Order: sequence, then C-alpha cells, then structure tokens
Amino acid sequence: MIDKYLKVLKEIGIDEVFMETANHESMDKVKLLEELGKEIQECKKCDLYKHRKQAVLGEGNPNAKLMFVGEAPGADEDRLGRPFVGRAGQLLTKLIEATGHKREEFYITNVNKCRPPGNRTPTPWEQEACFPFLERQIEIINPKILCLLGAAAARAFLKRPVSITKERGEVLNWNGKKLILTLHPAYILRNPSAEELLFEDIKKAIDLALSD
Ligand code: URA
Repeated sequence: MIDKYLKVLKEIGIDEVFMETANHESMDKVKLLEELGKEIQECKKCDLYKHRKQAVLGEGNPNAKLMFVGEAPGADEDRLGRPFVGRAGQLLTKLIEATGHKREEFYITNVNKCRPPGNRTPTPWEQEACFPFLERQIEIINPKILCLLGAAAARAFLKRPVSITKERGEVLNWNGKKLILTLHPAYILRNPSAEELLFEDIKKAIDLALSD
C-alpha cells in the first residue's frame, strides 16, 4: 500500500523530501485527489471537454500551505496533463526557485481544468461550471494562502471584473483563506519589465504561507 502511495506521489511531482514525511492524512488526500482527477476526465459540464486532449487536475504537495491558481491549461499542459509546464509555467517555476523554494513544496492548479480553444480566456459560465472541482481541491488540500495568477483566476473567486495591475499584491479574505492576487506569468512573457512585481507577490505569498 505504502509503495503504491509513494508511486502516486512521484507521479504527481512530489520528491523524496515529502515522501519521507508522508503520513496517513496525506494518503487520504492523495486518494481523494486521484478520485477528483478521474471525475474531471469524465466531465462534460461545459463545452471545453470537446476540445481537450485531457483535463488537467493540478499537481504538487497534498499538504501545501500555498496553492497557485492559474486560468486554464494551455497547449503544453493539455498535451502533458500537467499544470504550468509551458513557457509561462517555466517562468513561474523559476520565480518560485528564486525565493529559495521548490515548486513541489506547493500545489499548482487552474480554475478551469480543460484548455479553451486557442487559449482564449474561459467565459464566466465555463468558470462557474468548473469551480466546484477547484473548491473540492481547496477543501482536500486546505492551503492557508491562495495565490491567484491573473485577472481571470481572480474574477472566478471574487465574482467581479478585476484590474490585476491595480489590485495585485493585495491580500483579501475568501472563505477563511487569504487570497493574494498577482500578474499571470504569461503577462510577464509579454511585459518582461514587470517580472519583479510577480516575484514580489510570489515571495509575499510564500512568506505568508510559511509563517506561523
Ligand atoms: N496558463 C495557465 O493559466 N495555466 C497553465 O497551466 C498554463 C498556462
């Protein structure tokens, strides 16, 4: 049983450091996340399923204190079944590492689990259809902080349009958790001079998540 659990942890991107601290609570979480992963592969609640190669659940530490939430998978994520592995994802990983941490310490997911055609922004209806899956992920992992990457992710939580350049860096309350809004890494690829701002917000989110 423990071998199967360790194999699953490895598959979802958790390295030996976390395997050593694996406990029963994490095993339950991994099982619940696996079940959720199966459900999203079957989901036809909105039309995005028609275009997907596969739905992308998310990956990382099931006990993460910090969860990064993006908009939706892009082409690379749709192909590989993992979140934030394309150019924007590589930038996110680089900025996490620049704080002295590893991406695997945290949990990374998206509001929408299926890639919108042509990488368009998911509609409010598509966000609403998918949001219960994210709520269940949040319930299972129970992070202290949610770092929302980009205006679309922020809109899904706050249920209102968000100007991310104006509201980035703010800490908001949401259902007993703290939300930190920040720029999407894809925005930084188009506007490299703003990289420092994203780094600042990621660092703030990590520091808050890991403080007592
Ligand atoms: N952009 C996102 O919002 N999510 C991903 O997983 C990749 C790119």
